[in-house]
Amino acid sequence: MTTDLPLFEQGRHLLSVSQFDRENLRTLFDLADAVDPIAKREAVCTVLDGAMLCSLFFEPSTRTRLSFESAFQRLGGEVTTTTGFTFSSMAKGESIADTSRVVSGYSDVLVVRHPDEGSVARFAAAAMVPVINAGDGAGEHPSQALLDVYTLGKELAARGKEVDGCRIAILGDLKYGRTVHSLMKLMSLHDDVTFTLFSPPGLRLPLEVEQYVTARRHTVQVMDTVVDAVRGADVIYATRVQRERMTDEMSQADARGDLLNWSMLAEADNLGAILMHPLPRDSRPDAYDLSGDVDDLPGLAIFHQTDNGVNVRMAIFLTALGVSLEAVRLTSKQRPWKATLRP
Ligand code: NCD
Repeated sequence: MTTDLPLFEQGRHLLSVSQFDRENLRTLFDLADAVDPIAKREAVCTVLDGAMLCSLFFEPSTRTRLSFESAFQRLGGEVTTTTGFTFSSMAKGESIADTSRVVSGYSDVLVVRHPDEGSVARFAAAAMVPVINAGDGAGEHPSQALLDVYTLGKELAARGKEVDGCRIAILGDLKYGRTVHSLMKLMSLHDDVTFTLFSPPGLRLPLEVEQYVTARRHTVQVMDTVVDAVRGADVIYATRVQRERMTDEMSQADARGDLLNWSMLAEADNLGAILMHPLPRDSRPDAYDLSGDVDDLPGLAIFHQTDNGVNVRMAIFLTALGVSLEAVRLTSKQRPWKATLRP
């Protein structure tokens, strides 16, 4: 993904986290804060009345697709969607360019997930409306990184800390994990971050990402064990092994058991760390992922991430479509209905 894309603002595609600087990142996060009553369903909003989102997901997704769609609908817009190649005309050999041109004639914004790196940029090149990258192969996943850094900032603030100067352990599939690539790049907008990395053999972080981060004067330490990586970390970000992206020569045999569990955290004397994961967590036996035995720990933030995803994706749509906060306020009202909400 090129780094010379224009900053993310009205009428622009969102393809990479490289479209952010500290200032437009802060603006996006302020918007995400401001729409919190709508995200929490305390207020209803119709600011996107008449607008149509088309979501095109050519890879599996639960939270990314549903939270983008939920965000758009919470703002009063409508959604049309297609999932998988089987039910789209790509199964008949239609090109990305033709599909994108056609679909952008039906909608005001596209959200696209596709298995090939760089493919969402090809959608954007042919589209007449803003295109949001919801994951392009092992490339990037900018909206996930945005909600991760948004959440991280809040979790650290609750402990009197900031992203500047924090220490984060990133574990798991650092090679194919696009959320890791986007997260590390977006965090490097901050100052003096220490990344301690652990991955199974063959799944090391691409050099390009490491160089991106070190060129911005952050520290990257590659550790031999999970316990070493998480010792002293303010935040631990665990990831799933992206088995669907692996070729035959990749060793999967080394990735068994738990990637991270309660005893490893206890051994590292770090049971209080903030625990993050982009999800889905692979909960099948021997899946080599974050164990469920950490779920009662006080730092578990994985569902804060998913909840915050709606706020951040609302902010992305408001920015792409040039909607002011004033327009949001004028079209919002207290909800007239009652729902059972989480505390
Ligand atoms: C991630 C993805 O699709 O890259 N999931 C997500 O969008 N939250 C991570 C993964 O699939 O492991």
